[in-house]
Amino acid sequence: MAVTQQQTIELLLESYSMELETVMNYLANSVNLDGVRAEEIKKSLAADVLGEIAHAQQLAGRIKQIGGHIAGSKVLGLAMGKQIQPVTDTTDVTGVIRSVIAAEEAACAQYKKIIKAVDGEDYVTQDLCIRLLADEEEHLVQFKGFLKEYATS
Ligand SMILES: [Fe+2]
Ligand SMILES: [Fe+2]
Repeated sequence: MAVTQQQTIELLLESYSMELETVMNYLANSVNLDGVRAEEIKKSLAADVLGEIAHAQQLAGRIKQIGGHIAGSKVLGLAMGKQIQPVTDTTDVTGVIRSVIAAEEAACAQYKKIIKAVDGEDYVTQDLCIRLLADEEEHLVQFKGFLKEYATS
């Protein structure tokens, strides 16, 4: 069944709020963690914050392009809070890595959903989501690699 433009906008808005939630949680984890073992993870997350903001900007651009409107924090805030929250034990590096993996898996799943939904209807949105999916898969592989190392040492 063909997806309507309004449905596409709603799917993209969901990704948009997921990206912004990721920004908040990665930023928090990139400063909250303590210890030598955390240093590489903190650096990686600090860099990812900028990448995830760029994703949100590209989504917002596409939403506007197809007739949508970007809500502010009051409305968007209602859609947030589904992700694993920053760890309270600031030495729990593996806890942070697991939360990043969960967030990246959720982002990949949402992009795949959009890619399928707009197939044959909206190629520009599809192309954008394929590129964003490629980025998230890269993050996912990287953090799965971190988990292998950190969970065994
Ligand atoms: Fe992202
Ligand atoms: Fe990501």
